[in-house]
Amino acid sequence: MTFPVIGVVGGGQLARMMAPAAVALGFHLRVLAEAPDVSAVDAVANAPVGDYRDLDTLRQFARGVDVLTFDHEHVPGEHLQALIAEGVNVQPRPDALINAQDKLVMRRAIERLGLPNPVWAAVASVADITAFGEANGWPVVLKMPRGGYDGKGVKVLRNAGDAAAASDWFGSMSPLLVEEMVEFSRELSALVARTPSGEAKAWPVAESIQVAGVCDEVIAPAPGLPADVEAAAEAAAMGIAEALGVTGVMAAELFETPGRAPGYLINELAMRPHNTGHWTMDGAVTGQFEQHLRAVLDLPLGATDALSDIVVMKNFLGGANQDLYGAYPKALAAEPTVKVHSYGKSVRPGRKIGHVNVIGAKDDDVAAVRARASTVANIIRDGQ
Ligand SMILES: Nc1ncnc2c1ncn2[C@@H]1O[C@H](COP(=O)(O)OP(=O)(O)OP(=O)(O)O)[C@@H](O)[C@H]1O
Ligand SMILES: [Mg+2]
Repeated sequence: MTFPVIGVVGGGQLARMMAPAAVALGFHLRVLAEAPDVSAVDAVANAPVGDYRDLDTLRQFARGVDVLTFDHEHVPGEHLQALIAEGVNVQPRPDALINAQDKLVMRRAIERLGLPNPVWAAVASVADITAFGEANGWPVVLKMPRGGYDGKGVKVLRNAGDAAAASDWFGSMSPLLVEEMVEFSRELSALVARTPSGEAKAWPVAESIQVAGVCDEVIAPAPGLPADVEAAAEAAAMGIAEALGVTGVMAAELFETPGRAPGYLINELAMRPHNTGHWTMDGAVTGQFEQHLRAVLDLPLGATDALSDIVVMKNFLGGANQDLYGAYPKALAAEPTVKVHSYGKSVRPGRKIGHVNVIGAKDDDVAAVRARASTVANIIRDGQ
């Protein structure tokens, strides 16, 4: 067998969705699962359970893999350095990954590259936050530099009183990141992939809609995005990937800021396939999961063109309905053009448990395609 073995640390839905791409190309996928019942376990034959925070576990898992990559960004950098020293091919490498693990490191990198950050500061006390708020205006956004996801670790502070009430945040981490509350017209995502040899490709910039800090819907390509903003955002993401030596898929989450040059600001970076890229699975020539595997293996990248002028991805989060499959007859009958991706997860309120993709047909308008996606996602969530 000359096909490569890819080891993925973490068994969430991102690892799960790498499996069909691996099967298609003949790669062997191996997943280090957090527990026997995590999302990816159903999808890959080789999924040992182990703690990614334990170096020996990682070492054992990496034995025999051609490349080690990730479902999430939480593997300690020093463990990855140790594995590299022992000859393991880790992609992306920890010095790139740190920019997705630590928002303060990321802010400094964006600044160094001359790309547009929101106004920000590292703060070590309530007094620091208050000084920032007084200087730059309230409200401000306080962030845990590490460990946040889905808006956990992000807090809007309206005034000095809110800042005082957030003092306990310094108990778990210091310094923290504080940012101006950006007045954006919408959120965007610039998704790229890059290989260790330096080939890079970008998908069209997409619009992402968050509800309560969680990605809810993505529209690609971003409707009505001015060509100069699209070009600048794409160039920024490509430039970041190149400058930081990113390999695999990287998402740059952006705020669109019309009237404030250059028309966008960088929110944060993710170095793995990303929720805002799920539309590519059905809506682009090459999906992000296939591209990630090609990239970390240093293979030529696939074309990234969108297959339609309108592609919509809609998440379904855990809701009232526990019996997802029970809702399928109604959901699938409602919209035969919709593609359902279920993560095999148990239903808990607010948990990301799947998404749907819809490819717009000729003459469709955005609202109609969004409605088709919502119809199916809501039937599965609600059971009716
Ligand atoms: N400076 C800001 N100004 C205005 N809104 C913000 C700001 N920072 C974050 N937000 C809002 O909060 C959401 C979550 O913030 P961020 O992406 O930093 O956190 P996260 O929990 O790491 O995200 P993810 O869900 O992508 O893992 C953003 O998508 C955006 O809607
Ligand atoms: Mg985010």
